[in-house]
Amino acid sequence: MSNAGGFYNEDCIEGCKRHVPDNSVDLIITDPPYGIQGDTLHQHYNRKEGFVLDGYIEVPAEEYADFSTAWIAQAARILKPGGSIYIVSGYTNLAHILNALRTTSLKEINHIIWKYNFGVHTRRKYVSSHYHILYYVKPGGRATFNAYCRFGADEKDDKGSLNYRDREDVWIIKREYKPGQRKNKNELPTKLLTKLIQYSSNEGDLVCDLFLGSFSTAKVAIGLNRRAMGFEKSKIAFDYQIGEVRKVAPGCLLPSLRIPEQAELANQGNPWTEEERERLWLRYESLIRIHGTKKRAIEILSGEFGRGRFAVAKVVQEIGK
Ligand SMILES: C[S@@+](CC[C@H](N)C(=O)[O-])C[C@H]1O[C@@H](n2cnc3c(N)ncnc32)[C@H](O)[C@@H]1O
Repeated sequence: MSNAGGFYNEDCIEGCKRHVPDNSVDLIITDPPYGIQGDTLHQHYNRKEGFVLDGYIEVPAEEYADFSTAWIAQAARILKPGGSIYIVSGYTNLAHILNALRTTSLKEINHIIWKYNFGVHTRRKYVSSHYHILYYVKPGGRATFNAYCRFGADEKDDKGSLNYRDREDVWIIKREYKPGQRKNKNELPTKLLTKLIQYSSNEGDLVCDLFLGSFSTAKVAIGLNRRAMGFEKSKIAFDYQIGEVRKVAPGCLLPSLRIPEQAELANQGNPWTEEERERLWLRYESLIRIHGTKKRAIEILSGEFGRGRFAVAKVVQEIGK
């Protein structure tokens, strides 16, 4: 079995036991095989089959319940207290995933509906065009939830608060159409992954995907300057994608992120915690690398941390001494 620095071409259940210590991962985002012959999904989603990578490994329907219990137990073990997990699931085997989650100590936070375009065509029933995203947290620590990372507390348009709308639990996000590019049969969109990673992690955090497929979680995590790790059982998918993930420059997606406005007030006046100061410094260093100027870095940090520019500059100066 090959190990490519945090990425393993192995079954995730055995792989976790072998390589991942208890309480070591900040965030898990994962999209297990759906147990509905995912190895034929491309017939619905992508007519140009030449671009779909072979080697998607399915789980037989009769094994799905035990399989879900086993991998979710590992996910719960490796998460840090306060760590978050998002599981993407279709409706067919959703009950097995929910049952498996109930056998752990993980606490349900939200049940998100992701509506996508290009649902599977049907003639005698409604078109299926959504997935479930189950958001759970491991008890015992403070969960990261960066409520103002994308829209400031006071940002509005003619339909009301942008922050509120971005945090509603029904998301309409298009699947990506990638003509001529090689892809996994069920690739998650960058927009969706960016949103999950922004809300539930900070730069430098460790993000794990137990079912990497096209390594989309890992690619976006690295692009957002997080650390990434994970498992993919298919050798064909792994061997191709490991080369692709290595091409992603840490932090390359950061300049494309929207900078929230008017978020200054969200945390103004609250005392700084040691963890927040450390996080600020880590992010400051990376912003200086990306944007070059202290002024711009402080402007961005002020929005992200919901604090006045003067307060941010003061902490940067203290730590930088
Ligand atoms: C739904 S796909 C993941 C798609 C991925 N999120 C993406 O955006 O490309 C599930 C993946 O899990 C892999 N897989 C199946 N059983 C596995 C196991 N026991 N351990 C690790 N990977 C497995 C499949 O080969 C497939 O690539």
